[in-house]
Amino acid sequence: MAQLFSPRADARLRIAVVVLPLLAILLAATAFALARSGKTWRVGEAAAQPIPFSHAIHAGGLGLDCGFCHAGAARAAGAGMPAGELCLSCHQRLWNVTAQFAPVQDAVLADTATTWASVNRLPEHVRFHHGAHAAAGVSCASCHGAVEAMPRTVRAETLHMGWCLDCHRNPEARGAVPVGLGAQGYVHAGIEVPALTRCTACHK
Ligand code: HEC
Ligand code: HEC
Ligand code: HEC
Ligand code: HEC
Ligand code: HEC
Repeated sequence: MAQLFSPRADARLRIAVVVLPLLAILLAATAFALARSGKTWRVGEAAAQPIPFSHAIHAGGLGLDCGFCHAGAARAAGAGMPAGELCLSCHQRLWNVTAQFAPVQDAVLADTATTWASVNRLPEHVRFHHGAHAAAGVSCASCHGAVEAMPRTVRAETLHMGWCLDCHRNPEARGAVPVGLGAQGYVHAGIEVPALTRCTACHK
């Protein structure tokens, strides 16, 4: 057979055949690792807040219950944020109200909410419900870490889809006892699919 490629081109082709797939594998592995790394998902990063609020002082030191300030977490979809009046109920007497408290006082006077920055916000297309998790006995710490030890609030888990699904596939393994949707079966094409892993469980 006539030689199609010069020996040099042939050698280059052979090298490319070996090197290109290796590069592709390396790229895919890097992308996979990045998608799962905490840094990509801002784990451990605090947000700039109007007042340097500390859970370590209030929930840890003073021992205030989470529900005292986040009353919705036990039953509602949203955990909710404390009203400025709640802060001032202690801070007008117990502790000097300094210039630091201006954002809370302004909000109370204007009858609006203090604008706290969120470190856990999910994208718009994802559904979440605190009450459903509380009913199944999933602790705040499973998703938020040891908040009572945080001087500044940070995200403790990636909260990416795979992380949610790890528990939704087998919540019992994580000590959860589903009583709602999680306790229901669902058959798709003759196969039993756990109801909690259906796309519509978490997507609108
Ligand atoms: C004295 C009121 C108070 C108590 C008690 C309290 N928190 Fe908070 N929490 C706040 C305030 C104010 C913020 C907003 C500022 C910040 O993020 O640090 C907040 C923010 C948070 C956030 C971040 C919210 C977001 O949008 O990302 C989580 C999670 C949280 N709290 C969980 C808890 C848990 C768990 C407990 C109990 C261990 C608790 N909190 C007790 C007042 C409180
Ligand atoms: C299964 C995981 C999970 C558990 C358990 C959980 N949270 Fe959350 N929390 C989240 C997610 C996810 C968000 C962001 C929700 C969003 O963006 O819609 C959030 C948001 C919050 C916020 C911000 C305000 C809001 O409602 O969006 C606070 C405060 C909070 N959680 C407190 C708590 C407390 C207190 C508990 C325990 C009683 C708790 N969470 C249990 C995952 C969890
Ligand atoms: C039950 C009473 C109580 C409530 C409610 C309360 N605090 Fe406090 N707060 C305290 C006490 C006590 C201290 C510690 C004072 C000290 O150690 O000097 C403190 C300390 C602080 C400090 C100083 C922190 C530091 O690093 O020195 C800030 C800022 C603060 N609180 C903000 C808030 C905000 C914002 C709210 C409402 C979300 C709030 N507090 C609700 C009792 C309270
Ligand atoms: C540690 C385990 C665990 C983790 C982590 C977890 N979930 Fe859940 N989730 C559950 C259990 C258990 C239920 C079912 C509660 C029941 O049936 O009583 C549930 C229920 C829900 C529901 C209510 C479904 C309905 O319609 O009733 C939504 C929405 C949801 N989870 C979204 C999420 C999202 C989004 C994440 C990740 C940010 C997440 N969950 C992380 C255990 C978990
Ligand atoms: C247990 C809750 C849960 C279930 C079930 C779930 N998702 Fe998600 N999904 C999430 C969360 C949380 C995010 C946002 C974080 C992320 O991008 O990983 C997300 C993000 C996505 C995104 C956007 C990804 C991106 O890069 O922006 C798509 C697309 C998606 N989901 C499709 C699906 C499909 C299809 C199913 C059913 C096979 C499904 N999801 C089931 C929780 C869930």
